[in-house]
Formats: sequence, C-alpha cells, structure tokens
Amino acid sequence: MDKILIQGGAVLRGRVTVSGAKNAALPAMAASLLTDEPLRLRNLPSVRDIQTTGRLLHEMGCRVGLQNLQTGHGCELVAASPISCVAPYERVKTMRSSVLVLGPLLARFGRARVSLPGGCAIGARPIDLHIKGLKKLGASLTIEHGYVEAEAPRLIGEKVVFDRITVTGTENLMMAACLAKGETVLHNAAREPEVTDLANLLRSMGARIEGDGSSTIRIQGRPELGGADHTIIPDRIEAGTFMVAGAITGGAVELLNCRPEHLTAVIEKLEESGIAIERSGPDACRVTAPRRLQARDVTTMEYPGFATDMQAQYMALMTQAHGPSIVTETIFESRFMHASELVRMGADVRIEGNRAVISGRRDLTGAKVLASDLRASASLILAGLVASGETLVHRVYHLDRGYEAIEKKLKSLGARIQRIAD
Ligand code: EPU
Repeated sequence: MDKILIQGGAVLRGRVTVSGAKNAALPAMAASLLTDEPLRLRNLPSVRDIQTTGRLLHEMGCRVGLQNLQTGHGCELVAASPISCVAPYERVKTMRSSVLVLGPLLARFGRARVSLPGGCAIGARPIDLHIKGLKKLGASLTIEHGYVEAEAPRLIGEKVVFDRITVTGTENLMMAACLAKGETVLHNAAREPEVTDLANLLRSMGARIEGDGSSTIRIQGRPELGGADHTIIPDRIEAGTFMVAGAITGGAVELLNCRPEHLTAVIEKLEESGIAIERSGPDACRVTAPRRLQARDVTTMEYPGFATDMQAQYMALMTQAHGPSIVTETIFESRFMHASELVRMGADVRIEGNRAVISGRRDLTGAKVLASDLRASASLILAGLVASGETLVHRVYHLDRGYEAIEKKLKSLGARIQRIAD
C-alpha cells in the first residue's frame, strides 16, 4: 500500500486548479441508469471512487468510457438494456455511495438488488431514510441476506418527509421521483450544492424539478428521460482543503476552478481566524495566511453550515492557532479518528463526546501516522506540512478515493511531499 512522505516546513505559494466534485460526480454517474440515451459528463475528478462507480456500472451492463475515466476528466455512459439491476457486496463494501443506483434502478426497471452498506470508520451510516422514502413512493423493500431487495411496478409520487437531512438519501429519492407517476414533494431535503448539481443534470435530461437548494424539492414525474451533456461543479471540499494548506503553512495560494459561494461557512470561519480570502476572478480566489492565526470554535452542520467533510482539516489548522478552540461534530458520531494521530504529532486535542477541545498553538513534530478515512488523511497531510521533520502517512488509499493527485498539486505549490509506492 502506498504511503505519503512529507518533509514539513515549506511555505506554500502559487496557483492550484480544483478538480470536479467527487460527491456531485457519483450521483451524476448513477443518473445514467435513468435513460437508455448517452449521458456525457465532464470535469469528473480522476479519483478511485469514480473508477469504482464506472466499474460497477460497467458490470451492470452500461457502456462506460472507462478509458477516459482513468486518464481524463470526461466519460460517456450508456445504460441501454439489458441492464442487471444488482449492485453486489464486493462493490458496495468498498464504496457505500453505490447505494445511489437504488433509486434509478427501481424507477426505470421496477426492481433492484443492492447490497446493504455496512458501517464505516466515521459512523454507522444507515440507509433507513432512503428505504423509508422509496417505500412512500410505493416500492416494496425488504432486507434479505445482506441485500436490499426492491420492487415497484411503477413508483407513484408522494410527499416524503426526511426525519433528518440526508444528502445521498435526497439524491436517491430525487432520481427515483423523476420517473414516478405524478408529483413527489421532498421535505427536509438536503440543500448541498451537489444536490443542486444533480437537479441541474436531471433537468437537462428532461426532468421537472423545482426547489433544489431549498429544503422542499418538488418533482413532476415523467414517463422517460433522455441523454444530456453535463459539467460537474468544482469540489468545494478539495478547495477548502487547499485553503487550509496555504494558511497553515503561512503561505498564499490562488485557487482556480473554485466556487467560493459554495464555501461560505468555511470561508467565514477561516476569515474569523485571520486568514484573508478574496475573489481573484469569476471562478478563482486568493488565500493569504495571517501573521497570527486565531483559534475559533466551529460546529459542523448540514449545508449551508460548516461541512463535516472540512472538520478534520479545520482541526489540523486549529492546532496551529493561538488559544483554545472547540470543534463540535454533529453529523457523524465517530468522525474524530484523526485526533489521536494529531496528538501523536504533538497536538493537544481532547475528545469529549462529540466535541474536540484543542489547545493551540503547539509545535508539531513529524511522525508515522495512520489515515482512517478520506478527510482524516487530508488533515494528517496538512499537519505534516507544518510539522518539523518527516511525516509518513500510511493507508493513503483513503486519500486516493477522493483527492485527485493531491501530492502533485501540493508539490506544485512548493510542498516537499512524495508518494512512496509499495
Ligand atoms: N443517516 C441516517 N439514515 C439514512 C441516511 C443518513 O441516519 O438513511 C444519517 C447518517 O448516518 C449521518 C447523517 O444522517 O449521521 C447524514 O448522512 P448523509 O446521508 O447526509 O451522508 P451521505 O449521503 O451518506 C454524503 C457524502 C459524505 C458527507 C455527507 C454529509 C457523498 C457520496 N457522500 O454522505 O461525504 O460527509 O454526505 O455531508 O455524497 C466524504 O466525501 O468524505 C464524505 C464522507
């Protein structure tokens, strides 16, 4: 398994281009199952989760431009019949977002057999709300032998109230409702930009959707959808990670292909801590580190709140801020695995339930550390950039799931970082 070696202490300067959003690209690829016409996607990130989804769709019988997926940033997906309506355990266990095929399969083919994802490093992550919502649209769903077995001759539009906000749950229901009979109204829906990006894609496939970006989404079902050509939005979490990378090293970086309007809560918090962030173009912004970083508390929330996917990176930043800070995680129950690794590097972080209490500023020292999930890996790399000496991050396959060539991008900004292949 590859490792990442970082020699800390370099100040990052320069420009970096943000890739397409993984969490927008995954549902977009699943949406190809809603039609037998070609779906062209552009600005896909070249990361492992995208390749895994391509493989899953290919195994199901879709024609997938996999060649493009490995090298470039575009692909064409064609889900012309016959399609196997099965997402097997082997794929879902490596990537839980495979569950996004459930809604489209059920809506178009009237059946689906999707392995139930297990828990993961950041929490139990059930899919009960996806199941409850699809049942509300008239589907019969049972769990047998570790699989969700779903059937519905034709989904019927209904009112669905989510008990709590779920991003992929909203996406699954939105896709299913596009081919249901009549109107579906999703209440307490997720408002993430990735949900809006999917709604834009579905609209260009012929779907009738209103209200995305708000907590009530209305979908008028259509008998069928057609193909489309769609460009995925830039990755707001990758952008936020590079903002922290520039700031934590005392440098200045410019982000290209970045939508600051998707990062309002993150930018607000970084500015409170003294970091200067200014727009430098329609899709670009410049981030400049302060002389003295101030500690500021943060609480993760659903969009438009501070993203849980930026929590680990923010914690790394706060180890370098002056004063105490509290990071409260409200979305996932065990998303603090990075804290103990940061402590091994010299940080002062105490976990109290869903709060991490950080005392800054502490000098970090390089160490061998273990990445437990995607964003935890990013936080350890950020810590490694400011630690004295060498940091060796193990299990970087987590990182490869969602960050495109992160070590190359950081290196282009001046970081002393390299991948060590096994
Ligand atoms: N939840 C339930 N039941 C459900 C669905 C969710 O209890 O049926 C709970 C979850 O356990 C969690 C909360 O609701 O406590 C929110 O989960 P959500 O469903 O919104 O998460 P997700 O859709 O599985 C997506 C992203 C995650 C991101 C979360 C929260 C994708 C593919 N994944 O996951 O991204 O953290 O939303 O914003 O879009 C990442 O990129 O590192 C990542 C983990």
